[in-house]
Amino acid sequence: MPDPSLHLRLGRPEDARAISALARRVVRRWVLPDQSREAGQALLERLGARLLRERMLAGQRFHLAWMGELLVGIAAMRDDCHLVHFFVATRYQGRGIASRLWQRAMRDAVRRAGTRRFTLNATRCALPVYRHFGFVATAAERPSPNGVLSTPMVLDTPAGIIGRP
Ligand SMILES: CC(C)(COP(=O)(O)OP(=O)(O)OC[C@H]1O[C@@H](n2cnc3c(N)ncnc32)[C@H](O)[C@@H]1OP(=O)(O)O)[C@@H](O)C(=O)NCCC(=O)NCCS
Repeated sequence: MPDPSLHLRLGRPEDARAISALARRVVRRWVLPDQSREAGQALLERLGARLLRERMLAGQRFHLAWMGELLVGIAAMRDDCHLVHFFVATRYQGRGIASRLWQRAMRDAVRRAGTRRFTLNATRCALPVYRHFGFVATAAERPSPNGVLSTPMVLDTPAGIIGRP
């Protein structure tokens, strides 16, 4: 059942600080335990507010979930086809927020670019969620180009999504 007080909107550069704080908090709790110290540190650095703001200004699409004034979820899409960041605040997990964010990010990319194939690098704890969305692994777990231990996955766009508003 969707939460009536949840609302989704596109991130703006002035949201970068809140995005960074949420992403770093979730990464520390859920992602870093599976990573080397170096990869974890580099990931935290890539989640700094200044870099995120630059990415947004360069056209990366940050879909944000808010519970009132509180930022509770982030889905960032690069080049309308690669899901770069996907985080939900710990105490709001398991309520369907990631599903809402993914539907929005996917439809936005399909509408903008006619995307047929999505890719991502899944951290261990998110694998079941991505499988549930229909993603399939294309290789075994390995360090991504950024050094994060993760599983490369793809999703071919469900036919029904094409052309929907
Ligand atoms: C992965 C993450 C974003 C999911 O967020 P969430 O809001 O808890 O996810 P949701 O509640 O929307 O669940 C997503 C869907 O997966 C399903 N799901 C969740 N756990 C599942 C599991 N273990 N097996 C199968 N399906 C599962 C849910 O039922 C839901 O599907 P539905 O909407 O059709 O019912 C969140 O757990 C998170 O931030 N994790 C830590 C950071 C991380 O690893 N991010 C990914 C980096 S690649």
